[in-house]
Amino acid sequence: MTSNFKSIQIKIDKGIARLIFNRPDQLNAMNRQMMEEIIEGIVLINDDERARVAVISGSGRAFMAGADIKEYGNQTPEEFKSFQERGKQLYDAIENASIPWIAAINGFALGGGFEIALACDLILASGSAVMGLPEVFLSLIPGGGATQRLIRKIGINRVKEMLFTGGRYEAKTLMEWGIVNHVFAPEVFEEEVTRYAEKLTRRSMKSIAQLKRLANLSLTEASFGERINEEGKAVAQLFFSEEAQQAIQDFINKNEKKCSDGK
Ligand code: COA
Repeated sequence: MTSNFKSIQIKIDKGIARLIFNRPDQLNAMNRQMMEEIIEGIVLINDDERARVAVISGSGRAFMAGADIKEYGNQTPEEFKSFQERGKQLYDAIENASIPWIAAINGFALGGGFEIALACDLILASGSAVMGLPEVFLSLIPGGGATQRLIRKIGINRVKEMLFTGGRYEAKTLMEWGIVNHVFAPEVFEEEVTRYAEKLTRRSMKSIAQLKRLANLSLTEASFGERINEEGKAVAQLFFSEEAQQAIQDFINKNEKKCSDGK
């Protein structure tokens, strides 16, 4: 795996791929170079057969404190436009991947950092994580999809509150709101994230790929009938796969053994 990255780290071990934002002295604020590395890292992981699940986190006390505001200060209109356009590819690469992407939010996840988490399939947060969309304080709005992705997760009143106030929210609140899947105590956060990711590595990758595709399809303009048909096609395809046939036979054999053992 390439080791030329300056602002991120990539590791793959026992089916778990990790992409770690690595500009801790700048709270992992995302400049253009880092964005390019993140996109390259996501593509590398998505294409690596060893990766069954991916976890994104940040080194130091932040997940990511958003786009690099200092770099914003020097951007020409063309550079700003291209930064935003390229950003879309980052979010798409996560959403269109066949493996599940987990955001493991260890600290500040603000602006673009929170938006990357929103593009992930699951969000696990440390009890000390702080999340929000503070762009309004810069007289901006989020440009990484939050105005549209958030509404797919929670009700419009809460979406507007988060966007209008630019407030910072604790993990517990966002779990109650349905944005965060689980909150773990800071001292056990890393091991709980690993345990959670390990659980997913033991599930069928083919099933998860279809489940992710179908869940995301439910958010599109496709009709309910079309979406149900897609589910039907997918389950039929999986049913006749070698993997599923084997799992079904294993279940039957185990039950037969239990019966003959008198259990
Ligand atoms: N862009 C560029 N640099 C950033 C940054 C960002 N989004 N967020 C933090 N940093 C840098 C700080 O400038 C500082 O760098 P320095 O030591 O070279 O001065 C370093 O990271 C540490 O941040 P600091 O502000 O000193 O830490 P803090 O604990 O006092 O505050 C935050 C943490 C996250 C509340 C604060 O940094 C912040 O509000 N960041 C901006 C968040 C934001 O608006 N994101 C959306 C961007 S569109």
